[in-house]
Amino acid sequence: MKIFTSESLSDILTWAKNTLKESNKITFSALNPDVEAGHYAGEIITIREINYRYRSYKAWNDLGELLFCRMLTPKPISENTIAITYEKIDLSDSFHHVAAKEEKYGTASRFNAIHKNEEPAFLSPYLRALRSVKVENKKRILNLGINTGDEFDLIRQILTAEEYMSLSLVGVDHSPSAISVAQERFHEGNATFHVHDINALSSLNLGRFDLIITIGTLQSSTLEFKLLFASLVQNYLNPDGAMILGFPNCRWMGGEMIYGAKAPNYPYSEMSILIKDIYYCKKYLQQKKFRVTVTGKDYLFITATKIGL
Ligand SMILES: C[S@@+](CC[C@H](N)C(=O)[O-])C[C@H]1O[C@@H](n2cnc3c(N)ncnc32)[C@H](O)[C@@H]1O
Repeated sequence: MKIFTSESLSDILTWAKNTLKESNKITFSALNPDVEAGHYAGEIITIREINYRYRSYKAWNDLGELLFCRMLTPKPISENTIAITYEKIDLSDSFHHVAAKEEKYGTASRFNAIHKNEEPAFLSPYLRALRSVKVENKKRILNLGINTGDEFDLIRQILTAEEYMSLSLVGVDHSPSAISVAQERFHEGNATFHVHDINALSSLNLGRFDLIITIGTLQSSTLEFKLLFASLVQNYLNPDGAMILGFPNCRWMGGEMIYGAKAPNYPYSEMSILIKDIYYCKKYLQQKKFRVTVTGKDYLFITATKIGL
């Protein structure tokens, strides 16, 4: 087994990349970070005259993710060392590669296996956004690209039954199978779902809303990002309404949420489009007198509330 003690991360990365060209799984030994927690990555720790560079499990997990691998449960191999194994994830196992239109995200798709509310890097900033807009006071809520309704489900979980039933929820998505599941899940009578193309939103005559949520949808190739966004603010939001916009900065592959937006023409994560779109929305909302925050990691959230409220 390959043994690492005080080698630099750059050397380890080079070895790992080369070895993964020939194998789906690589194993190496390194210092057990539990031996002396609280060090920064790279700090030298000397044990029985051997110099080790400290790295936390977070650092080892990050390295695995950057190599498109999952880290298996580390195995102790001596008093101070562990064996770390990285296993390549199946990059072809993803909804991203599917071209199907309305049903690309339908219940028969691989997307249906994703439960974003169970990913800490999604849940935490989305929860914060819901709290910061005071979702319990937003009587009419619109969600574009609602899919099977996970974003409404969290609202239902965090509010009291009385608060939740005082809301009126509207979800729109062009996937008939996803909307059919949403209709079954939200049977309390305060939610309405439409199988509809967001490009033709005006024909639904939805009126105005106190909160508009749209996550992972605005940047869809089927939509005119800037036009749609401006229309939402101008034609669908109440004067004192709020917005929560979620932008993926990750890809879902082989059961993993892998950090980093994939951009056309780049073989690696590239964030120009993501940053441009977020900046556009932030500037636009600020000009319309909204207080705007940008939070999150694997999903970036714009949360906008009217100044003075
Ligand atoms: C990436 S998924 C995001 C779903 C959900 N908000 C989430 O984050 O899990 C995008 C959703 O938008 C829907 N969608 C994309 N383009 C659409 C359009 N033009 N009209 C209606 N729905 C659309 C898809 O069917 C899909 O459910």
